[in-house]
Amino acid sequence: MKNTESQVTPAKSSVTMFAGKGGVGKTTCAAAAALHYASLGAQTLAISTDATPSLSHIFEIKDDEKPARVREALYINELGMEEVKEMWDRKFGADVFGVFSAFVSIGYAEFVEFMTSVLPGLSDEFMVDYIRELNIKSEYETIIWDTAPLGQTLALLETPALLGKHLRMAPRIYSKLKLGQMSREPILDILKRWEKLSADNMDFLRNRVQFNMVTIPEALAVEQLEDIFRQLNEYGLKVKKLIINNVVKDDNSDFMLTKASQQKSYLKAIYDRYSDLEITELPMFPYELKGLDRLREIERILFHNKES
Ligand SMILES: Nc1ncnc2c1ncn2[C@@H]1O[C@H](COP(=O)(O)OP(=O)(O)OP(=O)(O)O)[C@@H](O)[C@H]1O
Ligand SMILES: [Mg+2]
Repeated sequence: MKNTESQVTPAKSSVTMFAGKGGVGKTTCAAAAALHYASLGAQTLAISTDATPSLSHIFEIKDDEKPARVREALYINELGMEEVKEMWDRKFGADVFGVFSAFVSIGYAEFVEFMTSVLPGLSDEFMVDYIRELNIKSEYETIIWDTAPLGQTLALLETPALLGKHLRMAPRIYSKLKLGQMSREPILDILKRWEKLSADNMDFLRNRVQFNMVTIPEALAVEQLEDIFRQLNEYGLKVKKLIINNVVKDDNSDFMLTKASQQKSYLKAIYDRYSDLEITELPMFPYELKGLDRLREIERILFHNKES
């Protein structure tokens, strides 16, 4: 592992991300995967960076603890703005505030609020960083990462450039103000640290995270898949597994037969186009997928397909 910080030991835990467009079954697959690894005895954390998290719903957990225990070896953590602000605070908040407050009269809490809302990629960046740190700490052997719909997740990759653009203005304003003493860390150093953080996070995404894509056999989803793969490729991120969810296997009614025949061409298109990936089909179920028993069914299909 290429890491220049000598105190950092190589991470032992594996990180698997479930990505895909909205509503295709990312959280369902992530929850089933987490249950699988926990059942094998690995200390497992399912973590969500979705603004409207649903892990607690799917695991039927009412507890507000972070992380919350689901069962032996299985925990969930739904990251929210609070954690993001806390991380920003710890890593950069005071420094950037020092520069900022030299020319704008603003309170610290208000400043953090402002920064996290004005830079849209900031929260994503710090969420990646949070998971990277978790991975380094190796408190969990397996981390399952349930994400927001992919557009949002991809936006985070733009963050370094975006932040650079915003913050590059600061030194110019700074020098114009002719401040008497400049005891704070110069802004260029802060920027450099920030760039390093972004590079480390990108490195983490490239080398430590296994990307699993979830899709459904429908026109729009298949079309978008191509686009998603292209974008991930541009960032050097490789997808390993592809899950096709909501596949109709039931041929007991005309309705289902029609649906199944419609799905056929999309299924073929996916298999033709992504023959180099490990592809798993998940059937469409007639009931809501919630609670450990239902998740077990998904787990069996995702991980023991050949036995059934
Ligand atoms: N194979 C399936 N059969 C029946 N229902 C399913 C199946 N997969 C998922 N669902 C249901 O579809 C809904 C959306 O699934 P899920 O929350 O896993 O999607 P998501 O991709 O995480 O959505 P979001 O983008 O909103 O986070 C849930 O109510 C879930 O129970
Ligand atoms: Mg979800």
